[in-house]
Amino acid sequence: MNNDEQLMEKIISLCKTRGFIFQAGELYGGMSGIFDYGPLGTLLKNNIKNLWIRKFVENRRDTYLLDSAIIMGEKPLTASGHVGTFVDPLVTDLETGKDYRADHILEENNINPEGMTIDHMTQSIKDNNISSPEGNDFGDVREFNLMLKTQLGSSSDSSSTAYLRPETAQGIFINYKNIMDSMHPKIPFGVAQIGKAYRNEITPRNFIFRLRELEQMEIEYFIHPDSWEAEFDYWKDEMNEWSEMIGLDMNKLHEVEIGPDDRAHYSQRTVDFEFDYPFGQKELFGLAYRGNYDLSKHAGASKTKLQYTDPIRNETFVPHVIEPSMGLDRTILAILASAYTEDEIDGNTRSFLKLAPAIAPYKIAVSPLVKNKDHIVDEANRVFGLLKAEFGNVAWDDNGNVGKRYRRQDEIGTPFCVVVDYDTLEEGHADFGTVSIRHRDTAQQERVAITELNNYFTEKLSN
Ligand code: GAP
Repeated sequence: MNNDEQLMEKIISLCKTRGFIFQAGELYGGMSGIFDYGPLGTLLKNNIKNLWIRKFVENRRDTYLLDSAIIMGEKPLTASGHVGTFVDPLVTDLETGKDYRADHILEENNINPEGMTIDHMTQSIKDNNISSPEGNDFGDVREFNLMLKTQLGSSSDSSSTAYLRPETAQGIFINYKNIMDSMHPKIPFGVAQIGKAYRNEITPRNFIFRLRELEQMEIEYFIHPDSWEAEFDYWKDEMNEWSEMIGLDMNKLHEVEIGPDDRAHYSQRTVDFEFDYPFGQKELFGLAYRGNYDLSKHAGASKTKLQYTDPIRNETFVPHVIEPSMGLDRTILAILASAYTEDEIDGNTRSFLKLAPAIAPYKIAVSPLVKNKDHIVDEANRVFGLLKAEFGNVAWDDNGNVGKRYRRQDEIGTPFCVVVDYDTLEEGHADFGTVSIRHRDTAQQERVAITELNNYFTEKLSN
């Protein structure tokens, strides 16, 4: 196993053993491409979502939140082009019946599938004598629709066909009129949504990288078409700023211009933000200029005007859209890959997560130095209550000795450990009324007065 493979193994193992991420349905053998977030993973996820809402909604005047339904009917998804064109190229091993992504198979054989049609791929597999990983022949490449289909109610006629949404974006477009009529926004404005999306990926892989159930954080920013280039650049900068805020290793982030043959069916320009994951450089976020593709299609299919009238220019038009789209699960994987660190303390290797304090599952852990002295435990409990009331995600940790507690908190990324000890309670001692604060990244300690803790952590934890 090389270093990158080892790193990936360590991250997956840490996620399971420390309650971040579990394989869904593990008790029954597990489901491929579907994961559950455990107690610490849920805290991490919520911290990221809250920070995203703070940056992209609360700190702005022009963006609204939405929480639209996951289940969508066939009509809107036909209008949006997903029923017809949301497909991946699939190829099957003729002996085992196992399915593969044809473009991935070509890439693994050093053939660039960019711009190839299905027929080209079939031909290329034949011409290059490419066989399956099991050494068998492949059949012809065909298109496979990635949407998860379901049926509403007891009737099985086609009007009851529904889908789990493949992107949160469509819920925003089909609510454009509701948002205009209820909020009366002026262009430019954004609608932001965080939520689950579903894709029946042919080969889910790389832990939480390619999932069948995923979560997206998306903004549809409605603009006048004349300003699309400036808005596109502005949102590119915003996405870079966001990446820095959440502690991504910026040296591992790359902006990649996607060529016309490789863009999604709705996009006139796409820049992917790719990240150097341990398994290679792959997409993390996407920024797309969707023009007025979606609103025009929904207007046509629903026979409803989806327009905007500019009160100053007295001009009516179908707004265009810039779409910053951020997958939450891939964000978490990139954060973990950026944060996982090993160093040496007292001759021992320690592993720790160098998470930005704003997103760490626990901001602070509080412990009594010893468990068998009531006055120390009581004071530690009091400090714990004070900090929990102010900062919420604070852990209580009194297991094992202090050294072991530090290691445990390091491993889950807690930036500060507060310890109440004998000196805290010894009147006349220079450290009376203070606690020890130990810093995760440096392992250094300092004394801070209990009365100063709120100010101290407010400053340290502010973004
Ligand atoms: N609304 C635009 C859209 O959905 P996309 O590039 O298909 O565009 C956006 O997806 C983001 O969603 C990606 O950049 C990625 O972060 C995330 N994503 C897409 N498919 C995913 C999958 N199968 N597993 C995990 N994340 C995925």
